[in-house]
Amino acid sequence: MDKHKFAWSEFEQPTGWPEVRKPRMVFVAKSIAVVGSRTDIKSNRRDSDTNCHTQIQWGPAIPQIQTMTIINLSQEPHQIPTLAQWHHAEWADLNPGQTLEQRIKKMQAYLSDKLIPSTFIYKHESQLAGSAAIIHNDMDTRPELTPWLASVYVAPEYRLQGIGAKLVRHVMRQTQAAGLAKLYLFTPDQADFYAKLGWTTMAQEVYRGHRVTLMSVTLNLWED
Ligand SMILES: CC(C)(COP(=O)(O)OP(=O)(O)OC[C@H]1O[C@@H](n2cnc3c(N)ncnc32)[C@H](O)[C@@H]1OP(=O)(O)O)[C@@H](O)C(=O)NCCC(=O)NCCS
Repeated sequence: MDKHKFAWSEFEQPTGWPEVRKPRMVFVAKSIAVVGSRTDIKSNRRDSDTNCHTQIQWGPAIPQIQTMTIINLSQEPHQIPTLAQWHHAEWADLNPGQTLEQRIKKMQAYLSDKLIPSTFIYKHESQLAGSAAIIHNDMDTRPELTPWLASVYVAPEYRLQGIGAKLVRHVMRQTQAAGLAKLYLFTPDQADFYAKLGWTTMAQEVYRGHRVTLMSVTLNLWED
């Protein structure tokens, strides 16, 4: 059998493995080496949409290794100043009076070994590309609702490449795995983006002077 076809079919269609998303790469390499055992690849692909890419090493026909991953911000706290700056530029008007320094301190306080609160970051080729967080409460007018998806942000140059969806799904998966049934969020203008990911509108109201949509997702009805 052709060596390359064999490698590709082994990677793409392992018998008995769950349906997984295919890596977005064109197979043009002259040689391919799969680094790590099959078990490594299988478990990584189940854990995340992205980690599988780190398990593939292309031959000389493709010089760069595509690496994309979602990690907890507590693993890379040095990213906080950049991320806080992005969030501050995007949402300062929803937090009137909050300075960038206060935002940085809050983000540092959210670093923990618990799921709530946690901030997850998306890294593309070692570059910070986006974030999503899970927190106890994001709307002080709705203290009865918990937990919340918050801080969903993708840097402008990485938008419309599926990264926002991966981050949201990652938080949904983590929340579901922790046995929690629901997640909430509010958004001034991205309700359609969340609706595509299975979220439904609970209410529309004015919050801190902005018209926002309050949304929820029922995780035991959601299939990844
Ligand atoms: C909203 C945001 C996170 C989307 O991230 P993204 O990486 O560009 O989104 P994705 O590429 O994963 O998009 C997933 C799907 O949603 C669609 N989508 C993306 N933004 C959308 C929007 N504003 N309205 C409707 N659909 C949208 C995409 O076309 C894609 O659809 P498809 O699956 O049919 O192809 C990003 O635009 C952003 O960071 N905006 C600024 C911060 C912000 O508003 N965050 C949300 C706070 S509540």
